[in-house]
Order: sequence, then C-alpha cells, then structure tokens
Amino acid sequence: MTDATPRIIWTPGADRSVAETILRALPDWFGIEEALVGYVEASGAMPTATAWIGDKVVGFASMEQATPAACDVHVIGVLPDCHDQGIGRLLIGALENRARSQGARFLTVKTLSSSYPDPFYDRTRGFYEAVGFAPLAELPLHWGPDNPCLLMGKALA
Ligand SMILES: CC(C)(COP(=O)(O)OP(=O)(O)OC[C@H]1O[C@@H](n2cnc3c(N)ncnc32)[C@H](O)[C@@H]1OP(=O)(O)O)[C@@H](O)C(=O)NCCC(=O)NCCS
Repeated sequence: MTDATPRIIWTPGADRSVAETILRALPDWFGIEEALVGYVEASGAMPTATAWIGDKVVGFASMEQATPAACDVHVIGVLPDCHDQGIGRLLIGALENRARSQGARFLTVKTLSSSYPDPFYDRTRGFYEAVGFAPLAELPLHWGPDNPCLLMGKALA
C-alpha cells in the first residue's frame, strides 16, 4: 500500500524536468511559453520545496530572499489532479518555515491582478487569501500592461 501523505523535500534549485512537467500541466496559468521557460530557468537556481506522494512528484514551490526582511514565492504549482488536497498549503507552510529560518519577517507573492478578469487566477488569489496572504499593492506595469500584477504578502509570526 502506498502512503498517500504528501512529504516535502528541499533542494537548492528546482529539478528542471519536474518544474517543466508541472508547469506544462497547468496551461490555464502558465500558458505563455516565454514566461514558462523563465520560471523553469529561474527556479533552477532557487531553494525549492518539492511535494511527493509516494514516489510521485505532485507539486513544487521556489522562493527567493527579496530583502533581508522578506522572501518571495517565485513560483508554485500543484498537478491538476492533486488540487484541493492540501498540497499547496503544505508547500506554503514549508516556504514560511524556511523564510523564518533565514530571518525573514514577511512572505510575498506576485500574481495576476483581478483588474484582468481570469477565472483561473481568481482561484489562485482565493488560495493565497485562504493561506493568509492579503493584497498589498497593484503593480500594473510590473509585467507589462497586458499582465497586471498584484503584490500579496503575509507577516510571518
Ligand atoms: C494555487 C495552488 C498551488 C493551490 O494548491 P492546492 O493544493 O490546490 O491548494 P490547497 O488544497 O492546499 O488549498 C489550501 C486552501 O486554499 C483554499 N482554496 C483553494 N482554492 C480556493 C479558492 N478559489 N477560493 C478560496 N479558497 C481556496 C482551500 O479551500 C484550502 O483551504 P482550507 O485548507 O482552509 O480548506 C494550485 O491550485 C495550483 O497549482 N494552481 C495553478 C498554479 C497557480 O495558480 N500558481 C500560482 C501562480 S501566481
């Protein structure tokens, strides 16, 4: 019998094929090829928490230290057939623990703003709010006018 409890393994960078496989399984979120390739490249050089169930990778999240006080979630993805099973929350919890251990007091994430209507990113913002993030600032030009950015963050207790 396989243990269905997800577990987290940290690596200094994301495994390229794992990151690419997961992001390509999420075309409604990562459908811009140039952006997808950028996430795969960048996450390869960032501390990465990978979620495993048995011998299967089901999700990953990469993080960078943006300032001494704040770490930023660079990318997070969970395989679609594993959504809504607590894996995203587990990954964010792992990032929070690591951010705290690095001296950070805040965890931030940039996502698509609601000023660009998109049902998939509505779900993403709902997830971030459920795990404790709040909207901090609209950054309409950060990714360009076609991709308005919302900065979200949470204080690390
Ligand atoms: C966002 C994502 C990582 C969340 O992972 P997940 O494993 O499905 O999320 P979880 O099951 O851990 O959900 C955690 C909490 O968020 C809540 N949640 C999830 N979607 C929600 C929504 N649309 N509205 C409100 N709450 C939501 C869950 O109910 C759960 O709360 P609970 O623990 O109190 O029940 C995953 O859905 C995903 O890969 N999405 C596509 C990629 C993406 O959006 N990446 C981020 C780009 S910025």
